[in-house]
Amino acid sequence: MPRPIIIDTDPGIDDALAIMLAAASPEVEVIGITAVAGNVGLEKTAPNAAALADLLRLECPVGRGAAGPLWRRDTKPAWDVHGEDGFGGYALPVSGRELEAALPLMARLIEESPEPVTVVAIGPLTNVAGLITHYPEAARKVERFVIMGGGTLDRLGNMTPAAEFNIYYDPDAAAVLFDFAAQQAADGRAHAPVTMVGLNVTERALVGLQHLPDLVASGGPAAKMITHMMGNYHSEPSADGMAQHDSVALAAVLDPAIIETGHHHVDVENTGRLTSGMTVVDFAGYSGLKPNCDVALAVDLPRFRDLLNTRLSALDARLKEA
Ligand code: RIB
Ligand code: CA
Repeated sequence: MPRPIIIDTDPGIDDALAIMLAAASPEVEVIGITAVAGNVGLEKTAPNAAALADLLRLECPVGRGAAGPLWRRDTKPAWDVHGEDGFGGYALPVSGRELEAALPLMARLIEESPEPVTVVAIGPLTNVAGLITHYPEAARKVERFVIMGGGTLDRLGNMTPAAEFNIYYDPDAAAVLFDFAAQQAADGRAHAPVTMVGLNVTERALVGLQHLPDLVASGGPAAKMITHMMGNYHSEPSADGMAQHDSVALAAVLDPAIIETGHHHVDVENTGRLTSGMTVVDFAGYSGLKPNCDVALAVDLPRFRDLLNTRLSALDARLKEA
């Protein structure tokens, strides 16, 4: 039985690969995609999410979420990494889908699903915070929140020395999620645990086209888009490729053994002059608070690269036939 997932996203080049990976994988069923402002503005992330759903023949609803952070007013899009359109200049046909309001959509999908829903949040957490605040009963029914965000002391930030983009963009929203998970842990409820896949892991998840030979050979619609985007994606570029941050979070849902995790208490600094957006992982238990998060500590890079190559090439073959 595939695991139902909602993908909350700010597409975004690495978001696009993660959504393709989900569409290509039998372990999950994408029951909804909700767009949030982040890499680029909502006026781009929402139509990008809809256009991707069309390309991937996903029949799930697409939601339009938050156009900016809860309170922070000094964050900017990541045009330098994803381009101003969010796909590095790759133009998909404009979707004709009607987008729904993201929060009631998320709540409805969670309440109506016959199986518990996993929320995979690969952008700023503004929509997730909205779900927790305005639909707390639905939020408590979430099987797990798997987020790409934050980091640990060996790699904390890519926006400041202390903060990763998704958390930095809306630290107050991230604090809502980790406070919610801390409350569930304190109440002894197993509900709504969080898996945090941070930079300490994702910056090691370097992928280049040399690691996707079967996809490149396939040459179909997914291959064309990914080849173009990989040439225009500027996140931690090196000879070994670029950091595929969001796909690691998605891969952890498909194949949990692809990452190693530790169970720790995590909170978010959202008022620091220099550290706003820092995820504070309490490895030593100083807080005395119960662990509220499974923190990704390592990734099996060959296994991750092979999963991407295998699944994306199979997806491409399917799209070519459609
Ligand atoms: O820091 C990396 C994260 O920020 C990824 O989700 C990327 O898409 C950007 O949103
Ligand atoms: Ca993202």
